[in-house]
Parts: sequence; C-alpha cells; structure tokens
Amino acid sequence: MDAVNHQVRLAARPVGLPKRSDWSYAEEPVGEPGEGEVLVEILYVSLDPAMRGWMNEGRSYIAPVGIGDVMRALVAGRVVASNHADLAVGDHVTGPLGVQEYAVAGGHAVMKVDPGLAPLPVYLGTLGMPGMTAYFGLLEIGRPAEGETVVVSGAAGAVGGVVGQIAKLKGARAIGIAGGAEKCDYVMQELGFDAAIDYKSQDVAAGLHEHCPKGIDVYFDNVGGEILDAALARLARHARVVICGAISQYNATGAMTGPSNYMSLLVNHASMTGFVVSDYGDRYAEGAREMTGWLSAGKLVSREDIAEGGLQRFPETLLRLFEGRNTGKLVLHVAED
Ligand SMILES: NC(=O)c1ccc[n+]([C@@H]2O[C@H](COP(=O)([O-])OP(=O)(O)OC[C@H]3O[C@@H](n4cnc5c(N)ncnc54)[C@H](OP(=O)(O)O)[C@@H]3O)[C@@H](O)[C@H]2O)c1
Repeated sequence: MDAVNHQVRLAARPVGLPKRSDWSYAEEPVGEPGEGEVLVEILYVSLDPAMRGWMNEGRSYIAPVGIGDVMRALVAGRVVASNHADLAVGDHVTGPLGVQEYAVAGGHAVMKVDPGLAPLPVYLGTLGMPGMTAYFGLLEIGRPAEGETVVVSGAAGAVGGVVGQIAKLKGARAIGIAGGAEKCDYVMQELGFDAAIDYKSQDVAAGLHEHCPKGIDVYFDNVGGEILDAALARLARHARVVICGAISQYNATGAMTGPSNYMSLLVNHASMTGFVVSDYGDRYAEGAREMTGWLSAGKLVSREDIAEGGLQRFPETLLRLFEGRNTGKLVLHVAED
C-alpha cells in the first residue's frame, strides 16, 4: 500500500492544560501486516480524560506515552488487510491503536464489533471502555441495592450517564451532578435520573441535602476536588464511595486537592475504593452482553458527541473534556466508513 499514515505524536509533557506545542504531526508509510496481524484504517478516535494522565511522567496504572510516540488512544476502525484467520477485510474492530489514520496490530489486540447492532462510536462509549467502567464500577464496587440513593458526578458524560441509568435499572434512586442547566435537563429528561444538581450555579452541599434526605448510599466519583468533599459530608451509614476519576485535578499545576471530609468514612462505617476498569478485562464480554441487551430493549440511552475535522482537530477536541464542552461520549471522526 502506498498510502501515507498521518499521526499525532506527543512532543512534550504538558504543564496544566495541553497546548498545541505539546503535540507534533508526523507521517510515515502505511505498514504491512505480518503473520497473524491486520492493517486497520482508523475511523473514530476516542477522547478520554485519562489521556491527560498518560501524558505525564511517573508511576501510574499504565506506563506514560513516550515523548515522540504516537499518542495512545482507543479507536474504532475497519480491517483493510488481514493475515489473521479470524479477521477478514471489511470487518470492524476496536482497540488501543493510537491517534493515527492506520495501524498494524496483532489480531489478538483488537476486538471485532458489529456496526449492524450499534453505530461504531457506541463501541467506544456505552459498549466500550467507559460503559464497562460504569457497569463494573457501579455493580462491583458501588453495589447499589433497590431503594438506595446513588449519586454520580460527571453525570452528563460517557461514564456518569451510564452509571445513573444502571442505578435506575437496579431499582436505586439516581442523582446526578453536572455543569450547567442544559446538562442537568439532559440527565433528568433523557437519561431518567431522579434529580440533578448544577455544580456551576447551585450549592452542591445544599442540593445533596435536598435530594438525599437519608444520605448517599453510593457515591460514584468522576471529578474529585470540592464535589467529592461535599459528597463525603453527606454519606449514609455503610456507604460505598467509588473513586473512578478526578477530572477536576488532572490539569493541576500544583498539588492535587484531596478530600478533607474523609473522617465521614469512619463515622459512617463507609468505604472508599479506587477502581481501574482494566481489572475487569476478562469480564468485558459479560458486561457487554448485558449492556447490549439493555440498549436493544431501549432500557439504556447512549449518546455520542462526534467531533468532525479529522486528526488535525485532536488537540482542541481533547480540551473539550476539561472545559465541559461534551455531552455523552466524545469521539473524533477521522475517516468515512
Ligand atoms: N477508573 C477507570 O478505570 C476509568 C475509566 C474511564 C474513565 N474514568 C474516569 O471517569 C471520569 C469520566 O470520564 P468520561 O470519559 O466519562 O468523561 P466525560 O464525563 O464524558 O467528560 C468529562 C466531563 O468532566 C466534567 N468536568 C471537566 N472538568 C471538570 C471540573 N473541573 N469539575 C467537575 N467536572 C468537570 C465535564 O462535565 P461538566 O460539564 O458536567 O463539568 C466534562 O464533560 C474521568 O475522571 C475519567 O478519568 C476512569
């Protein structure tokens, strides 16, 4: 194949919000798949808050992206050449293939998906990593019982929107925290949450007091910072706090703001547990099966926020996550199917 593969590479480790100069654009010839490998044309790139952490040096749950490396990203694409027995040209796949137009990958590194069942971007959202995060984080760590109150921050986002809906499916009450009246309306009217608190214009502590009169049984935290502290102050006895993310802190240039109300865990015999979705990798099929069933039955609403403009738009599209300029799962459209 003579085609050129355009790529976005990490040029520098950002301080604060990533700048254009933290990225470089490169091109190289499209690779040839070897034995057991496939060549994938990338159609959609997933934008994830975790990308900000992957750009930092230091120990984490995964190695940092190296300077000069293609930026790590989950993608959805189409097989255009195959030397793998289980994958044919024209099959659609997802996998961690990076911010680029083409990638050669071992057949085991990608997962075949069916765009007839759900549009490709859904496999990066509700039926992909964020959906599995909501599913396993809520059901395995949060463990909501019928009638309990579940509060989730980042409620209009990819993970949070699914958390509240699963809570409802399990017979719990779902209270969302999101930025802005429009997002709060979306969370209640379209996703079916019982209530929503606009942290940008309302007092979160007062909102939690109003909507959680018996306290919070499960707090699913996507944002950290002051909102986590407000939730801790309102825990019910034996509450479970799921530490899924802390997006309010990802671009901090100084020390992260940690919770000060943590004694509430002791007073309420509560637990706070950190969670990484990849720990449940061997159970994704189980989560995907149940989530697909809910989607097909119309019990789960999936929303994708699709940015156009191709790879050149990657830097500013990523920033949308940190500015709250996405509703549902943010993906970048890279090529037509
Ligand atoms: N532990 C895991 O395995 C795992 C896996 C996937 C994701 N995560 C984490 O889950 C969280 C949500 O990820 P996602 O993919 O679903 O992203 P998302 O919620 O779709 O998008 C990010 C949202 O975060 C909110 N936000 C941004 N800055 C904020 C701030 N300073 N304070 C409060 N909210 C802020 C914005 O919504 P508003 O407009 O409402 O502010 C924005 O839309 C992230 O923390 C991510 O790192 C963890």
